[in-house]
Amino acid sequence: MKKLTIINGPNLNLLGKREPNIYGSLSFTEFLEEIKQKYAHVEIDYFQSNIEGELIDKLHEVGFNHDGIILNAAAYTHTSVGLGDAVKAIETPVIEVHISNTFNREEFRHQSYISPNARGVILGFGLQSYELAIQSFIN
Ligand code: DQA
Repeated sequence: MKKLTIINGPNLNLLGKREPNIYGSLSFTEFLEEIKQKYAHVEIDYFQSNIEGELIDKLHEVGFNHDGIILNAAAYTHTSVGLGDAVKAIETPVIEVHISNTFNREEFRHQSYISPNARGVILGFGLQSYELAIQSFIN
């Protein structure tokens, strides 16, 4: 069984309540239940933190023994050299995802410290961005 981990960064615990016009009205817990059922043949672990160092620790923990990591580093995408270095340091391939199309938003969201070391980037498809990332690991 393939082992994937979804890692969500700051403020993504508020999905469903936070700016629903941008991020939608489904909570991540509800979405996760749906995709776990749909992809029952894949082990999908989940971790969310609002703390940069905890996200780095999680990448180190799963980054040598999982088949794929789906990372939405949220605002830290645009600021964190440490998270970018962690993605570079680990062996498990990382797909960077974003719910919104960060390129049609503020200019500071156009910069990513994750992308240079990611296997690929999927953004702008709402929560479906995560599902597309899962599919890319299992197909
Ligand atoms: C986000 C985009 C980021 O710019 C923002 O800081 C987020 C969410 C997205 O999924 O669209 O928190 O990563």
